[in-house]
Amino acid sequence: MRLAIYPGTFDPITNGHLDIIERGAQLFDRLTVAVTNNPSKSPVFTAHERMEMIRSVTANLPNVEVDSFSGLLVDYAGSRGACALLRGLRAISDFEYEFQMALVNRKLSHGIATVFLMAHERYTYLNSTIVKEVAKLGGEIDSFVSPLVKERLQQKFQKP
Ligand code: PNS
Repeated sequence: MRLAIYPGTFDPITNGHLDIIERGAQLFDRLTVAVTNNPSKSPVFTAHERMEMIRSVTANLPNVEVDSFSGLLVDYAGSRGACALLRGLRAISDFEYEFQMALVNRKLSHGIATVFLMAHERYTYLNSTIVKEVAKLGGEIDSFVSPLVKERLQQKFQKP
């Protein structure tokens, strides 16, 4: 059974993440979407809220599960018996950070490979930070996130 871990902050999950999850789920027997619990990232949504949104939008994918982790990613992946870490690559600007992370993770744990999927060109410009900014300012986010995530963003940013 080949298990891959797709780690990230997912604050919140976008359609770009979902595209990577759908394609990753076809490549591996099981895929765990692992939400980082690291509070230093100051996420807008709690880990519980982020996991709940991911669970809802991946409910149609039987070999995908959602979990959270703290500490080193390679320790978590090792404890789960994963063979790969999955990451999406959008533009060339992602490369340096992703390359650095992949090399550090390889240094820390030789047994685990980082597998990159190119983001669909529809989503190369998309990230959670931009989606939050547009949502906060009342812009249209229908093509960026699922209806459930849109609703959660609107609830989060609604004015009292
Ligand atoms: O979605 P993000 O914020 O780009 O995800 C980054 C993440 C969570 C994958 C990365 O910060 C991470 O792996 N954090 C766990 C701590 C760790 O293992 N650090 C060493 C590898 S760089």
